[in-house]
Amino acid sequence: MQEQSFPRRKGLLTPVSVLVLLILPLVDLPSANGSCEFPSSWTGEWYQYGKSPVTINTTVLGDRACVERTDDKYVVFNIADNCYQCMIINGRHENVIQYREAWCTLERKNLEELCSVITSDDMLYSIFRINSKPISCPFSGSSFTFTYNRGYGECTMPISLAEKCTDESKLLLKYQACPDVEGTESNTEELQCLAVWNDGRNKYLVGTLKGRNVQSDPYRCFLYEEKPHHQGKMIYLLAQSGDPTCNGLTTVSEGSPTIKLTKVDKEHGRCKYPSWVTQHHDWHSLDGTKNYHFTNKNATLKIKAQAQDINSETFHEEKIVCHNVEKYPNENMQGSKVKLVAHVTSGCDIGYVCMIFHKRDSNIIEIQQSDQKAIMPDEACSISDPSTMPHMTLISTSLHQRKCPNLGRYEILEFAPSHTLSEAVMSRRQRRSDLSRTIKRRTWQDNTEDAECKSTNIQIGCTSSDQTEMIIANTCEHEEIAYFCHGSWEEKGTWYTIASQRNSEFPASLGQTFCFSMRLEGVRDRVLGRGGRQKQQEQELWLSVPSRICQRNSEDEYMYRLSNQGVCEDLTKAASSAAFAPSLSQPLFTLSIAAYVAINTLCVLLWR
Ligand SMILES: *[C@@H]1O[C@H](CO)[C@@H](O)[C@H](O)[C@H]1NC(C)=O
Ligand SMILES: *[C@@H]1O[C@H](CO)[C@@H](O)[C@H](O)[C@H]1NC(C)=O
Repeated sequence: MQEQSFPRRKGLLTPVSVLVLLILPLVDLPSANGSCEFPSSWTGEWYQYGKSPVTINTTVLGDRACVERTDDKYVVFNIADNCYQCMIINGRHENVIQYREAWCTLERKNLEELCSVITSDDMLYSIFRINSKPISCPFSGSSFTFTYNRGYGECTMPISLAEKCTDESKLLLKYQACPDVEGTESNTEELQCLAVWNDGRNKYLVGTLKGRNVQSDPYRCFLYEEKPHHQGKMIYLLAQSGDPTCNGLTTVSEGSPTIKLTKVDKEHGRCKYPSWVTQHHDWHSLDGTKNYHFTNKNATLKIKAQAQDINSETFHEEKIVCHNVEKYPNENMQGSKVKLVAHVTSGCDIGYVCMIFHKRDSNIIEIQQSDQKAIMPDEACSISDPSTMPHMTLISTSLHQRKCPNLGRYEILEFAPSHTLSEAVMSRRQRRSDLSRTIKRRTWQDNTEDAECKSTNIQIGCTSSDQTEMIIANTCEHEEIAYFCHGSWEEKGTWYTIASQRNSEFPASLGQTFCFSMRLEGVRDRVLGRGGRQKQQEQELWLSVPSRICQRNSEDEYMYRLSNQGVCEDLTKAASSAAFAPSLSQPLFTLSIAAYVAINTLCVLLWR
């Protein structure tokens, strides 16, 4: 038999191979008879430059069917071209396969013969798994400076910056433009690492790039080298492939571009969060969806937030490293308000923020954070003022009972959304039942279910000797809601109280805590006596919805107007003396109280 089309082929034909060659053309096309299989770990969809997605299973690799195998050598039947060829295929990583191939022959020859013509000079094809699981990038450290070269000289001034994202498979490369080097521009690229492997002394990395210059085919291959620098600083030399293959990578000094990464040891100024923050390793938001965890010698704060979708298991993670403390009111870090600059890594959104920590109680803190990230730490507190930002109220895992503020017993005069309250001024002498009807008609006529849920009186600190309970009696289901107070503080005339339901199954368990705000305010003059000779200022206590955040400056909430029935002590005395009728000559009602409560929220949240 003569080889017609492949003059390079040489070697003697053994009797066995002659036999094989004589027989094979008579046999049917290779069937998947189980004798030849690709590794099952390769099964999946793969990307190869210039080809549509390559599907691999144990019998086919793209348009090649497995016919015979010895180690990494495969005789395959090329379905598209109707011929046999040898492929030497290596799985480099679960996400990368590389192969070389011989030419196609019409007759099936034996494996040795078909494969012997492949040399290391032949083209090496790389295929990358689609939707693969990323890996941590192989660079130790989280911050780097780098220089790069696109073939016109090294861009060193200004130096470029690279940072690892929260997800350690991602590295953000912030290229700077060097005015004196051609081919440089400022640009940001996000590298996601997918695979690393060694081939002899060479180390390879495959990843995808996201950025304005990478439109499609985002896969890139890197040849890289680690070089311990003097002073122990690690340096990484990288050569990037010019296309979505691993071709042309022979030395780290040639690439498109080459990159030299130097690890930066961030001097975060031995900065520590205040001791009253770090005395608890874990803090939680009131609804339990955010967890703040302090690690790494009290200098790193890791925030884990549940995704909006409750059923989703995904978390958003943020890392906040204390950089320097702006101001401590006193030296021992015990001041109740501390302002500091911190380095935030939120996904690939990285920079410096300004933060204010407020101590409210040993188990309650609040955090305010600027809403913009600065590139340089010293800009963090000037580009955005954290004191105007929302407060994040955090509680430690265990809460104590604390005395409630504004102790006393209050009776409802009215409740209504605040915007309707002004039109709905009602007499305090009106009987409660009348009031209920009025309210029902006025404010809840569109929602009869909510109409059944009205508080009738509120007792703060009257029911236990330690004055830590707050009772909101509610005609909704004829029950009352009892809260434990866990700490309160006052700010510009408003009291904020952290409370949890007393009768909840797990007292003060995660996500069962609320914030009430109360404000005593003189709102209008009340005319007393005949002819209006006496004037008395009424005060109102605003009691907010039991909210998951301690809201500031929010007026548009629902409210009750309550009258004060006296302080708890008076009631106790009155009860013990069995004199239930209050003396009318005693101005017990000098303080009339209004409180606002989103009663529908109460019902929905608490009466289920
Ligand atoms: C592999 O894929 C081919 C083509 O899609 C199919 O015909 C064959 O049955 C598959 N083999 C296995 C083992 O799933
Ligand atoms: C972290 O802070 C807590 C409370 O202030 C302290 O007890 C602990 O020793 C600190 N840990 C380190 C490593 O500084």
